[in-house]
Amino acid sequence: MENVGIIGLGTIGTAIAEGLHAALPDLEILGTRRQGAMPAYVTPCAGNRELLRRARLVLFCIKPQHATAILEDLRPGLGPEHLVVSTCAGLDIDTLCKHAGNAKVARAMPNLPCQIGEGMTALCFPPAWTAAARDLVTRLFDAIGKTVVVEERHFDAVTALSGCGPAYVYTIIEALSDGGVKQGLPRDISKLLAAQTVLGSAQLVLSTHLHPAELRDRVATPAGCTIDALACLEDGRLRGTLISAVAAAAERSAVLTRIAASARATDSDRASRSGTPGAEMP
Ligand SMILES: NC(=O)c1ccc[n+]([C@@H]2O[C@H](COP(=O)([O-])OP(=O)(O)OC[C@H]3O[C@@H](n4cnc5c(N)ncnc54)[C@H](OP(=O)(O)O)[C@@H]3O)[C@@H](O)[C@H]2O)c1
Repeated sequence: MENVGIIGLGTIGTAIAEGLHAALPDLEILGTRRQGAMPAYVTPCAGNRELLRRARLVLFCIKPQHATAILEDLRPGLGPEHLVVSTCAGLDIDTLCKHAGNAKVARAMPNLPCQIGEGMTALCFPPAWTAAARDLVTRLFDAIGKTVVVEERHFDAVTALSGCGPAYVYTIIEALSDGGVKQGLPRDISKLLAAQTVLGSAQLVLSTHLHPAELRDRVATPAGCTIDALACLEDGRLRGTLISAVAAAAERSAVLTRIAASARATDSDRASRSGTPGAEMP
């Protein structure tokens, strides 16, 4: 892998860049953004077109509402040699392809912990992608966490679970930490206890492959303290609330996908009526 270009060095673009820089220090990372500062280890490009001239593997980390217009603008510079991996929530491969000219487009749903090499990234490749191209992209994300390849129909679900998930977990850590402070613990100690407890518990799920309920039962000794707390969590519908939260985020992702797809359909319809293929998005 000679280099990687990141279009949109915002929150997730920078998290990926930072993780890659730490994991693969020899990898050249090229980047663009509109106006914000870039980390020193990123080679800044004068613009997206320059980035496309210098990088074949391109991560497209743009807000969904700006993505198609930016791709459309880049279309002349996108050739079959480009592997474009979009992190955009709610933009399906068909929509992305329509605006990406001859480039090969795949989807990735990374998450913020990519920044420290502990990310979770779901990938989806269209059938036209060669094994070598899939392997290149998978290796890139493997360097900054775990990866899983899923069918595109699962992308709303992975967006809602692992893409948005760090925000749910930070809320839980904050609340646990507040719980400790309420019991008189100093704030910094309480935050450490909460965060390390989440981290260690998650690592135990991954290393033992046990069902979380099995591990929970090991903590909740009969007539002990934990079962009283678990009863409170049931009263507060914690599990049902988290399930609903994932459903709400998945529905939002599906709505974004439908909006993009209907814009695509309207666009094709207009183009076929006017006889101008590839007309601009409204
Ligand atoms: N945030 C997450 O945890 C996360 C996780 C998974 C997926 N995603 C997806 O990743 C995408 C980006 O999300 P984000 O949270 O990183 O958003 P963000 O922080 O707003 O980053 C978007 C970046 O795009 C840059 N940009 C805008 N127009 C550009 C252009 N014409 N050329 C080059 N760069 C341009 C912006 O530059 P300036 O900052 O200079 O204006 C900004 O840095 C979204 O589609 C989102 O669904 C995000």
